[in-house]
Amino acid sequence: MPARPGAVRDMKTGAVTDEFDAAAPSYDRLVAANPGYHRHLRMSARRLRLPRGGEGLRVLDLGCGTGASTAALARELPRAEIIGVDASAGMLAAARAKRWPDRVRFVHARAEDLTLAHLGGPVDAVLAAYLLRNCPDPDRALAVMRSLLRPGGRVALHEYSVADSAAARAVWTAVCWSVVIPAGRALTGRADLYRYLWRSVLEFDGAAALRERMRAAGLDLVRTLPLTGWQRGITHTFLGRVPEAPGPAGEHA
Ligand SMILES: C[S@@+](CC[C@H](N)C(=O)[O-])C[C@H]1O[C@@H](n2cnc3c(N)ncnc32)[C@H](O)[C@@H]1O
Repeated sequence: MPARPGAVRDMKTGAVTDEFDAAAPSYDRLVAANPGYHRHLRMSARRLRLPRGGEGLRVLDLGCGTGASTAALARELPRAEIIGVDASAGMLAAARAKRWPDRVRFVHARAEDLTLAHLGGPVDAVLAAYLLRNCPDPDRALAVMRSLLRPGGRVALHEYSVADSAAARAVWTAVCWSVVIPAGRALTGRADLYRYLWRSVLEFDGAAALRERMRAAGLDLVRTLPLTGWQRGITHTFLGRVPEAPGPAGEHA
């Protein structure tokens, strides 16, 4: 049954992290049933193309949830320092309960409120997997990401975007109502979060609009890369970079 008009906005302005708190104990089981979920996160982590396994670099996993995207970063960047941040205490508790190397740590904060002080200084890259669509003010969240990155720092948004394609919208609706919503209800006893997921993806930016939003936030080298499987055309990696600091006067790269 379609969500009532305005339900997505209402959810984002308050209830989304409460719903994630409630979903936290079953979240890992649910995503394990989604073929490609972890592989695709690793693909987006690799697409940051950080050198030397991330040696000497600091990477932010914004909206880290129960740590699936953190694990993808930890595997693809075996030498990076990784900081996972999430607004849901329940999701973060599930992440913290797992075993992590010393170079991984977690911070409880809303993306919109995150400061350099939370992180102990700037970062070299941000992965935000399935976060931006959930933020009440995506432009603010992107501005925060940019403010936390060093010049030349990289961004990978791993996100659903179907608005540009009728075929993608139809596949997404079919998958949600035949699999995601029934499975979510079976595992958690409630379906609100999964109906919200369906509706919020339909209402979120198309790929061209999201690239434009990233450019407006001051990122350059913005592009979209596809993912594989049933998610092709539905889930994507959006890449961008904070422009390099200008060199001394008269010097051009
Ligand atoms: C769909 S989960 C994705 C988790 C993880 N990145 C992954 O790939 O499995 C989205 C996460 O974003 C978090 N979140 C939503 N809005 C947020 C916000 N404004 N600031 C920080 N975290 C937020 C939720 O609590 C949730 O854990």
